[in-house]
Parts: sequence; C-alpha cells; structure tokens
Amino acid sequence: MLKKDANWWRQAAIYQIYPRSFKDSNGDGLGDIKGITEGVKYLKSLSLDAVWLSPFYPSELADGGYDVADYRNVDPKLGTLKDFDVMLKALHKEGIRVFVDIVPNHSSDQHEWFKAALASKPGSKERARYIFRDGRGKNGELAPNDFVSHFAPSAWTRSKNPDGTDGQWYFHLFAPEQPDFNWDNREVELDFLKTLKFWSDRGVDGFRVDVAHALKKDFSRFNKSYSKIDSVGIPENGRDILFDRDEVHEVYREWRKVFNKYNPPRVAVAEAYVPAARRALYASPDELGQAFNFDLLGTQFVAKEFKRIVTENIELTEKSGSSSTWVLNNHDSVRTVTKYGLPQGTDLSQWLLTDGKSIDVDIALGQKRARAAAMYIMALPGCTYIYQGEELGLFEVADLKHSDLQDPTWKRNVVLKPQRVFFRRNNKYVTGVAEIHLDKGRDGCRVPLPWTSTGSSLGFGSGKAHLPQPLGFGALSMQVQSKIKGSTLDIYRTALKLRKKLQTTEEFEWIKTGDPQVLHFSRKNGWHCFMNFDGADFTLPKGEILHSSSPLKGRKLPKNTTAWLKA
Ligand code: NOJ
Repeated sequence: MLKKDANWWRQAAIYQIYPRSFKDSNGDGLGDIKGITEGVKYLKSLSLDAVWLSPFYPSELADGGYDVADYRNVDPKLGTLKDFDVMLKALHKEGIRVFVDIVPNHSSDQHEWFKAALASKPGSKERARYIFRDGRGKNGELAPNDFVSHFAPSAWTRSKNPDGTDGQWYFHLFAPEQPDFNWDNREVELDFLKTLKFWSDRGVDGFRVDVAHALKKDFSRFNKSYSKIDSVGIPENGRDILFDRDEVHEVYREWRKVFNKYNPPRVAVAEAYVPAARRALYASPDELGQAFNFDLLGTQFVAKEFKRIVTENIELTEKSGSSSTWVLNNHDSVRTVTKYGLPQGTDLSQWLLTDGKSIDVDIALGQKRARAAAMYIMALPGCTYIYQGEELGLFEVADLKHSDLQDPTWKRNVVLKPQRVFFRRNNKYVTGVAEIHLDKGRDGCRVPLPWTSTGSSLGFGSGKAHLPQPLGFGALSMQVQSKIKGSTLDIYRTALKLRKKLQTTEEFEWIKTGDPQVLHFSRKNGWHCFMNFDGADFTLPKGEILHSSSPLKGRKLPKNTTAWLKA
C-alpha cells in the first residue's frame, strides 16, 4: 500500500512503460492497459516506487502517441478508462505509484478542437486555440516564416478550407499531425488544468510533462527569420522566440496550485531541453518540482564525463531545492547496450542509417557497461529512471526493415536525389529519383519486450508484434533471465531491492581513488559506490561487498564494473 509521504518521489526508482510495446493482452500486436495489469507482478519484482506511462490516449500514432486526440480518455486500441482504473488499483496495491505523460505543447490533428478549427473561419475562436497565420506571397502560397520543425522541414503546413481550396497555415514544432496550441489563449490553459484534475482525481500520482519549455511563444517576432530549433544556443534570459520563455513558468505555478490540492501533492517532472542553469526553474517546488537531467543520455562511457555530470547536477539541485534525476535510456534514444558496445566516438545516427551494418556491436561488452552505469546512478542521491527493457539488457534493433518503421523522424527526414541507373529490361540508362533518409528514427528502442524465449512475439502477445522482435531477444526474455543467477535482470532486481533498503539522506561525497578511471562516492550511511571504467583491477577497501554489476575477482574490481560496499 502507498504511504502518505509528500516526499516519496525525491529518491524514487521510476520505470518508464512505453505502453504499446510493454504487453499485449488481446493479441492485436499493440501493447495495452490490460497488458500492464498483467505485468504488475513483474513490476513488483523490480522493487519500483513508480511507473511512468508514455501516452496511452486516443491517437492516430503519427508520433507514437505523442499526438493526442483526447487528453481525458484511453485509446480504444489500448483499452478503456475502466481498464485504466483497474491497472491503477493493481499497481497501487503493490505500492507502485503512477505517472502519466502530459503533452501540452501540441495536440493531434484529430483532436476535436483542431477539427473545429479547420472547419471554422480565419479569426474565429476555434482557430485561436492553435496558431494559424496567413501565408506570404501573392496567393498566400509561402509559409508565414522560415521556422523549422523538429521533424518536418518546415514548422508550417497549409490547411485546406472546408471547400477544398488552400487556406491559412498552421504551426507545428513537430509533425504536421501535431499542431501547436496557442498558450496565450486562456481556454487552452484552463483545459489543461481540467486534464490535470481529471487524472489526479482518478488517483494518478504524478505527471511527466512533454516539451515543457516550448508552450509560450513570442508571436510578436513571428515575422522574423529564425531557424534554430535546438536548445543549443537558447539564451538564458527567458526571451527566446520559441523556447523557455519566462511566461511558461507562470503556467507551471498555476499547475502547482492544482497539485497541492491533493494529499500527497501530485508531482511532476519536466522534459525541458534548456540551458542547465534554467532547469532549476522547472524543478523548483512552486513549479513542477523536478526536471529531467538528460546529460548521461548524451554521454559515452567515460569516467571524467560521468564525474562532471554528477557534480554539476548535484550542484543544480542545491539551487532548485529539488532532487536530481538520472536517466540512461528512454524511448527517444539509442539503448545504452548498443551505445556502449560500439567503439567510442561512433556517430550513432550515421551508424543507424547503415542499419547497424557499418560497425559490429560488442553486445556482451555493452551489457556489462550498461549494468555498471545503472548501478552507478542507482547509488546516487535522487531519482533513478529505468526504461522498459533496460533491466533485460536489450539492445537497439538497428536492422528493422524500412517498411516496418513508424517514427515520423524516419518518414519526414527525406531528401530526393536524382539518380541514373542502368535499367536491364530496356538495356539503357534511365533517370529516376531516390529517397535518401537522413534519420533512422527511434523505433529501434521501442521494439516490444520479450517475456518468454519462444512463442508468438516472445510472450509479448498472441499476435504479431507491431514492431518485429529480433532473434536475439528470446534469450534475453524475463523467463530465461529469471532463472539465471548473475543475469542482467537478476542484477537489476538485487540492486533495486538493496537500493530501497540503503536509501538515505541526499548528501553525497566524492572520494579520491588515485586512478582517474575509477570513481568512488559515498552516502552518509556508509554506502559506497565504486565504478571502474577502463582501469586496471582496483582493490576495494575494507567493508562488506553488497553487490556488483559483474563478477569481481575476489576483492578486485575489474574494468567496466560497479560495486557497492557498506563500510
Ligand atoms: C518528446 C517525446 O519524448 C518524444 O517522443 C516526442 O516525439 C516529442 N516530445 C513530441 O511530443
């Protein structure tokens, strides 16, 4: 059962479920809510404090569910609100809290508001919920400005009028199927407050906030040229045109008032790609309370980097009053097993574009390192985030067939290149156009979980999985690994169980090891963590060895390994 502790989240172990790939209860190939309920026993075996569900709302799946057609419902393909309540109850019964994903920057183009906007006239109140503008050029044929989208070349798409003629343009930071809301419209703000209350009243414990930094835009500068879309280069003054504007914090202060009406208060974590110094604003106790720190996601397996990132982020939490978050994997990034199993410095996106054929991955090495990194972050003060399948040592499926790919970043990042090829049938050269994809997308980390070693879709469901699982996944299934002492799953289970017992106040201290390849920190209660990246065998000092990410050589810690000690 759940304890009424307002600070339960500060050092929680939170497991990210990507519902469509977790477990499929009805054999239609898509994971669903009942599948999560079936998986509660498994989740319990991981000693988790909470799960975070990526979107499960009605969606046309233009962006894996991050295109929401109805914020207060469950996608009929995934179940019903009743199924959701049953799942929530089952998780709560086992002491596992639930975060849902809130996607406030944009809806789906299938949202009833967007459909109403398209059916209404320019200047109408229906259009004012989104960002519609007239085009430039003689007949409005040019986009209102040159802003680029994260997914499609332009951030503007021309709409059609109800009579089929070309109409105004609408703005979308992501795919055209994801129109951005106009957050200067009070109706939008109020509707999201309603959504937060809706899920909180149902008993949801927290929210993960998608692109939290993008809601407010400076429309007075929409007539200017601007093509930067990354957080790189966003000024720290809160006055960028599109991102991290000061006004966005007023939105979250209002959300906080809703959260605090509940007991314990609802919590939230921001996905905000902003300069590190600005992250503290989102994480402050009068706003969302916590913000993701993605620094480790973008880092190689390098001791110096792991140390710098931890030092900087712990300093930041001292400023915000929040606790830190540690993330190695999520549904948007190449799995650590693959990243750490490739030679350092490999350009992952280029490698993916070769379907993983340009360089072989050393999976066993990658798994060893990924386990070491996981045990390192689990020992740090703050929250540990685990992405489904990470505990199984799953690798990135780099060779998914192009016809199976679903991600808009694959579909939209295409250039057309004229090509001259020899056409054997006519015995002559012909000129055609080839599609060159510039981004393989994120499907490789979203392949459904293997529950068993054999059987249809490896126990994920009775039908064909919506993304095919590779051969190697069977041997990594929960069924197989549960029986093997020292398997990745076994090591995660033991580590998470121990972590719960060992968790203590949020202080932490670096201790010198004399070897830059070996990091050592301790917690107040005598819990010590040692991680050897690429050094010689390191002799562990006196103390009880509690656990290690791979076998030790007596009291020696080999490279690519983490050990916990109690002094
Ligand atoms: C961030 C999510 O993590 C990602 O999966 C999604 O594509 C974008 N936001 C747009 O919602």
